[in-house]
Amino acid sequence: MTDPFQLFDTWLVEARAHEPNDPTAMALATADAAGKPSVRMVLLRGHDANGFVFYTNRHSRKAGDMAGNPHVALLFHWKSLRRQIRIEGPITLATDAESDAYFATRSRDSQLGAWASDQSQPLDSRATFEARFAEMEQRFMGQPVPRPPHWGGYRVTPERIEFWQDREHRLHERRVFIREGSGWREALLYP
Ligand SMILES: Cc1cc2nc3c(=O)[nH]c(=O)nc-3n(C[C@H](O)[C@H](O)[C@H](O)COP(=O)(O)O)c2cc1C
Repeated sequence: MTDPFQLFDTWLVEARAHEPNDPTAMALATADAAGKPSVRMVLLRGHDANGFVFYTNRHSRKAGDMAGNPHVALLFHWKSLRRQIRIEGPITLATDAESDAYFATRSRDSQLGAWASDQSQPLDSRATFEARFAEMEQRFMGQPVPRPPHWGGYRVTPERIEFWQDREHRLHERRVFIREGSGWREALLYP
């Protein structure tokens, strides 16, 4: 029996070495309160035995979905390795301290962009965004840019993790870990 978090770490190290770009990119699937799904890419910014963390704008469409329905799915696809990892579970909000700490590591442009952008809300033009960005540059001139209150992290606590490895003759290897209490039950599936 392998710990799925250890196996995840091993695969991520291999992905960092092989994938030409964005090895931490993952698809995030949400569904709204009526059950309608939507999916988009985000970047994994932290992970440990408590879960998988990404950051976004809490006024965004995905944030609205997660407010109405906390159940999400994540998908990593590492084409160069012919592997995918599927993760499913509910989200919780990262703490303010955790979001502040991560926000502080971002470039100043990204920090100002987080203030200037109203993600998923239509803007009348690119020029409006640029004007807002310039406004934020002025507002925070000569001082650190604080985290906007509408920007922060989400942690996915996995209930199920599947590791999929392409094998010959389409006999793909599928190792599925299902959370049971404080541990995991493992099952091996084939296509
Ligand atoms: C490779 C890649 C990584 C991305 N990473 C993030 C991210 O970490 N956080 C984020 O809010 N958006 C990220 N985006 C943009 C999202 O895919 C999406 O366009 C945006 O968050 C709005 O989604 P929503 O309208 O469904 O909320 C990324 C896009 C790509 C292609």
